[in-house]
Amino acid sequence: MLAGAPPHSENCPVQGAFPCGVCMLSLCMCGFCMRTPALPVSFVFYVFPGAVLKIDPGWSTLFIGEFVTLTCDIEGAEAGWEYSFYKDQQQYSPGYQTTNSYRFQITSSNDGGEYDCVGRHKGSSETEKSKTVSFTAAEKPRATLTSGNTTISVGGSVSLSCSVRDSDGWKYEFYKTTSTSWEKLVETSVGDSGVIQVSKGGIYQCRGERETSGYLSDMSDVAIIRITFTNKPVITQQPSWSQIFQGEKITLTCEVQGGEKTDWRYYWRRNSRSLPNEDEKLLQFTASESFNGDYKCMTTRRDDFYSLTTWSEAFTVSVLRPKLSVSPSWLIPGASVTLICHTEPPSAGWSFYWFKAVPNSQDSYTYEPLPGTSSGTANNSFTVHGQTHTAGYACSAGRGDPLIYTQHSRPTFVWSSGVHPSASLTVNPDRVQHFTSESLSLTCEGNSSQWRLIRFLTDDSLLSFLPPATINGSTYIKNEAPRKAVYWCESGTEFSNAVNISTHSDGVILVSPVYPVPVGESVTLLCVMKTGNISSDVFFYKNNKLIENERLGEMKISAVSESDEGFYKCQYNGRESA
Ligand SMILES: *[C@@H]1O[C@H](CO)[C@@H](O)[C@H](O)[C@H]1NC(C)=O
Ligand SMILES: *[C@@H]1O[C@H](CO)[C@@H](O)[C@H](O)[C@H]1NC(C)=O
Ligand SMILES: *[C@@H]1O[C@H](CO)[C@@H](O)[C@H](O)[C@H]1NC(C)=O
Ligand SMILES: *[C@@H]1O[C@H](CO)[C@@H](O)[C@H](O)[C@H]1NC(C)=O
Repeated sequence: MLAGAPPHSENCPVQGAFPCGVCMLSLCMCGFCMRTPALPVSFVFYVFPGAVLKIDPGWSTLFIGEFVTLTCDIEGAEAGWEYSFYKDQQQYSPGYQTTNSYRFQITSSNDGGEYDCVGRHKGSSETEKSKTVSFTAAEKPRATLTSGNTTISVGGSVSLSCSVRDSDGWKYEFYKTTSTSWEKLVETSVGDSGVIQVSKGGIYQCRGERETSGYLSDMSDVAIIRITFTNKPVITQQPSWSQIFQGEKITLTCEVQGGEKTDWRYYWRRNSRSLPNEDEKLLQFTASESFNGDYKCMTTRRDDFYSLTTWSEAFTVSVLRPKLSVSPSWLIPGASVTLICHTEPPSAGWSFYWFKAVPNSQDSYTYEPLPGTSSGTANNSFTVHGQTHTAGYACSAGRGDPLIYTQHSRPTFVWSSGVHPSASLTVNPDRVQHFTSESLSLTCEGNSSQWRLIRFLTDDSLLSFLPPATINGSTYIKNEAPRKAVYWCESGTEFSNAVNISTHSDGVILVSPVYPVPVGESVTLLCVMKTGNISSDVFFYKNNKLIENERLGEMKISAVSESDEGFYKCQYNGRESA
């Protein structure tokens, strides 16, 4: 028999296809009449056509739920043929059937395998088996949504890619949520890569649809696409002066570079805290210290919360405040006090205003102009004569036409050690240096019944108002951190004498009187250890010069004179007092 040559029916005894069962030359066959031109006599063969199995859809992987149609084709086969299908060498369909196709739904992964088929004409033998065709059956697949680079410039787009693993023949549907539902965004065609471009962020999903059957994959997981714009917001200030004065109207504007045509929604922060001025491109305020801080802004597209810029660089707003220095800090009887008001930059053209700090009922001060200064001075230095008690001062500066003023400087104090009866602070025990473990009491006395106790930490220049007196009008201090401070009392217009107090957690201290010692009186300086008694040599220094070596840790000056004034310290066993 010959196979594969075209039929030449004109040489055949009977035209066309022969149904099986036609017998010639004692051979019973079925097939087509063929002539072989190589033979001298027209000789007839009956070539039996093979069965061909087709599986539709023809993907190598099919999924549970998909329908499959097996078709067994035998060329020229007509009525009277029967077909049978095999899977993995086992008869699969229920025996022979008269239709050449068999349709079924894939229900498990066992439905995958190698398929073939045979045909037969009634009464004749079976054709040869078709070539096997195989496919794999898999669980229903889930689509996967991935995005490309989401850092883009305004007007750019992000690619979203949908795929169903290890399989072909899909087209893809992309969905996006609105506030109420999922909305189909776009559907790609089969053969496309499954990639779309979107210009908005949001919540997306996708799924695949099998080309011919309409079989749907599961929806992908929800993907939140956040777009970060490379365009940066920038804060500008109007007026663009580098110095801002108290009371000036200031406008900060948030502008996205290169995003002019976009409708933005604005967000603001000051010192990393959100401001309630949401959705204002301009931030307007009247300058005062409470508006000082580092400002940042950020924007999102108005129609797309998921597309945002980064936060802008910080823009610092700092309302100008001069600094006042006072010299000397401790009043010297009869000497005047010099105030100097420092502005930044110290350029010409400023007028300076001078104030006295008046304690008010809150933990703050009000400011009263010093006599004769209400129209300002051209000199940034001002001299106060005849100051005898502790006092607080402040300054401000003004410039321009119309005149605008800085806010007040913080108060700066000049301290007096002189005790006067209408306002006095007493320290118990009466010494400058204390151990933190020992209790120390501070008592305000005088004309008022309402005192507040002030502490100025000399190392940090930090002013604080201590809580109201606790026991019998005295404030007790114990077990606080070691510190060096000046204390005084205030009430209404009254300021008490000020005292230096230092507290120490360990080592040795020098016991010396808090208050100035009148000339002619005796003074005893003691060197004290926190634990244990002094039992060997103690060295006393005055202005860093060794002056005495005492066994008992005690140094006595029987009648002090002004020449005894100075800074004393003691040294014992390798430890040195303040
Ligand atoms: C994304 O695009 C931006 C801007 O084009 C680029 O600066 C960045 O490096 C890209 N990131 C990645 C991960 O490709
Ligand atoms: C400002 O006052 C100080 C102290 O009173 C004085 O020494 C200085 O000369 C004055 N400066 C001017 C420019 O008047
Ligand atoms: C307080 O201490 C300072 C610096 O240590 C000193 O100049 C001042 O004279 C002291 N005041 C009194 C009243 O002892
Ligand atoms: C202190 O009190 C006396 C009488 O108790 C009074 O005359 C005097 O004005 C008071 N001083 C002040 C500064 O209030």
